[in-house]
Amino acid sequence: MLLPAPEVLAPDPSEQRLATIYAPPARRHVRVNMVSSVDGGAWGDDGRSGSINDEADWRVFRVLRALADVVLVGAGTARAEAYTALDRPRGLAHLAPGPLELALVTRSGRVPGTVLDGPRLPWVLTGSTGAEAAAAAVGADRVVVADDDGTVDLAAGVAALAERGMGRVLCEGGPHLLATMLGAGLVDELCLTTAPQLVGAGPGRIVADGQQDGDLPVRPPRPARLAHLLAAPSGTLLARWDLRHRAAAGWAPTTTVP
Ligand SMILES: NC(=O)c1ccc[n+]([C@@H]2O[C@H](COP(=O)([O-])OP(=O)(O)OC[C@H]3O[C@@H](n4cnc5c(N)ncnc54)[C@H](OP(=O)(O)O)[C@@H]3O)[C@@H](O)[C@H]2O)c1
Repeated sequence: MLLPAPEVLAPDPSEQRLATIYAPPARRHVRVNMVSSVDGGAWGDDGRSGSINDEADWRVFRVLRALADVVLVGAGTARAEAYTALDRPRGLAHLAPGPLELALVTRSGRVPGTVLDGPRLPWVLTGSTGAEAAAAAVGADRVVVADDDGTVDLAAGVAALAERGMGRVLCEGGPHLLATMLGAGLVDELCLTTAPQLVGAGPGRIVADGQQDGDLPVRPPRPARLAHLLAAPSGTLLARWDLRHRAAAGWAPTTTVP
């Protein structure tokens, strides 16, 4: 086995090389981006994932947003992380045309106020339970009602986004939404950052434990193929896991320098 010599991704305001490495392989593509501590925690002491990531993760996080049509996020994460209305990351608008949309998944239809104050209202994917509250918050034309016997039909919701020109989906969690997305077989790719920290047994994992009615187990266990692994001098590891096995198997040792 011969491995190529590491490539160093020096800081680059235009992020052209990272954008090439992370280019979505298809116009319809669902990518998830999550961060975990070394011992599997999905958040730190303050209950937010923002406290376990670092500059290397931030660099890739921004590029992934710059390459997407829409950021899909659970309402719980939008509330915990105080999501605001989105735009393309500053300085990276050249990486993809058009605006970056935000789409919230909520059964209740409770839309956090922080996302309502910006250049564009978010889209809301909900079921029949949340339709009225969601429409009151963002207007019926931004609500996708996809109901499956009282739960949100995410396959239909993701398809509805694609029909509206939002085929490149970047899902930023959280753990309950990821449980449903994985269980329903909707995820093409998982970008997983391993942060060089241990946080102990308190925080949950990046996939929730099935306590909410939308959560689905991954059965049978699904193999993931490592499409690439970037390593930062801080110890942060940035892996791209291909869940459809389209990428050639391999390990590309690339060092990011934040
Ligand atoms: N490590 C990471 O990469 C990462 C990423 C994101 C979040 N987080 C952390 O995760 C924590 C939040 O966890 P969480 O599991 O509560 O997040 P979550 O999945 O974003 O939020 C759960 C809420 O989102 C809605 N939701 C999620 N999946 C749904 C589905 N399939 N159908 C209908 N509604 C759905 C529901 O909202 P309603 O209650 O409105 O119905 C549900 O109560 C925070 O601490 C956050 O910082 C970590």
